[in-house]
Amino acid sequence: MAVAADGRASDGSDKIRMNPSATHTQEPGQRRALITGITGQDGSFLAEFLIHRGYQVHGIVRRASTFNTERLDGIYADPHNQGVRLSLHYGDITDGAGLRRILEQTAPDEIYNLAAQSHVRVSFDQAEYTADAVATGTLRLLEAVRDYISSGRKLRMYQAGSSEMFGAAPPPQNENTPFYPRSPYAVSKVAAHWYAVNYREAYGLHLSNGLLFNHESPRRGETFVTRKITRALTRIKLGLQDNLYLGNLEARRDWGFAGDYVEAMWLMLQQPEPDDYVIATGESHSVREFLDVAASHCGLDWRKHVKTDPRYFRPTEVDVLCGDASKARKRFGWAPKVGFSDLVKMMVENDLELAEQERTLTRAGHVVQRGASQR
Ligand code: NAP
Ligand code: GDD
Repeated sequence: MAVAADGRASDGSDKIRMNPSATHTQEPGQRRALITGITGQDGSFLAEFLIHRGYQVHGIVRRASTFNTERLDGIYADPHNQGVRLSLHYGDITDGAGLRRILEQTAPDEIYNLAAQSHVRVSFDQAEYTADAVATGTLRLLEAVRDYISSGRKLRMYQAGSSEMFGAAPPPQNENTPFYPRSPYAVSKVAAHWYAVNYREAYGLHLSNGLLFNHESPRRGETFVTRKITRALTRIKLGLQDNLYLGNLEARRDWGFAGDYVEAMWLMLQQPEPDDYVIATGESHSVREFLDVAASHCGLDWRKHVKTDPRYFRPTEVDVLCGDASKARKRFGWAPKVGFSDLVKMMVENDLELAEQERTLTRAGHVVQRGASQR
């Protein structure tokens, strides 16, 4: 059962509009944004950010047999109410006809293409699907946008690129660093990037590529290493699990806070000219260092609990990512607000609270469904 922002229980079926034009509420002069991947970590932060700025936000949600809108519960409101600023539409980045229909119905001023099979390790197991969603999915959206603007309508677009595209290129990586992708995911993001550049040059589209380094939060998916660590260490701390199985602890990443990074996406679209920007903190830490900081917040010695599982190694690894975001700082004054240590602390505190809830329920004899409470 999903719970709406007002605490009202909902079966969720009314969250997503089958025919958005029928219930469309629009204030005069209000800007409209369309977000693909709105149910993900970044999509949920971006939707909040844009609603806070007065936008009407439309999001594309793929149909699933289980709820996938939990991260939006804080901003969801009943679409039958007046002045609702968030509308969800069924769609899929692999379904071009549906994307065109949603584009026509929502008539956005800005599109943020965040939809992706975004897990690097999984992309080795699902390479074709990853390419279909990440590379060809972007192409489908661009084709729809190309036709949409051909009649003189205006629209700006953000394409979610990734530091994974730099892959094996030595740090620090900036906009001039050559791409050297090391996974089907990264290769697909490089293809999407070049599709975007080509459509910008060919059709005069105001389209900016964000080359975003890793960004995390308490809403991060639980299979990415940071959240996997904070979830596990806090559960270990409260006696809910014993061990944590990880892969390569020496990989280094430039980890920032997702809330800071969605602001950069928006800032890119507010510039007079489209361009490509690296967004990063400029600091790099190893997985081992992340474990040190997270474990110290928990008062644990992680070495007693962490074990190696080769399943989490990647056939080709990205060893060091460290971004240079000076172009974004100079052009539009972007700088990260949350540092590494505060980010880890924020995630640990959130997950400690979840673990405490779980322990309380477990002690009271309830069966707790793991992963059902990402905030
Ligand atoms: P995420 O949490 O994995 O969210 C991905 C989103 O894409 C989810 O809403 C997911 O829907 C949706 N999606 C997946 N397949 C889809 C499909 N076939 N059709 C429509 N939607 C689909 O990822 P994130 O961390 O928010 O990242 C957002 C974007 O930025 C992604 O493109 C990612 O590759 C890129 N990126 C992320 C980072 C980072 O560190 N977070 C860094 C650089 C780039 P479900 O909820 O239904 O799964
Ligand atoms: N996921 C995971 N699980 N990673 C592990 C583990 C583990 O058990 N053990 C070690 N690692 C290492 C990985 O090998 C990698 O070097 C590093 O931890 C980070 O892995 P992830 O958290 O899965 O993130 P990622 O860097 O591969 O990809 C993320 O960031 C990209 C931007 O650079 C994703 O969000 C991508 O979508 C994003 O583009």
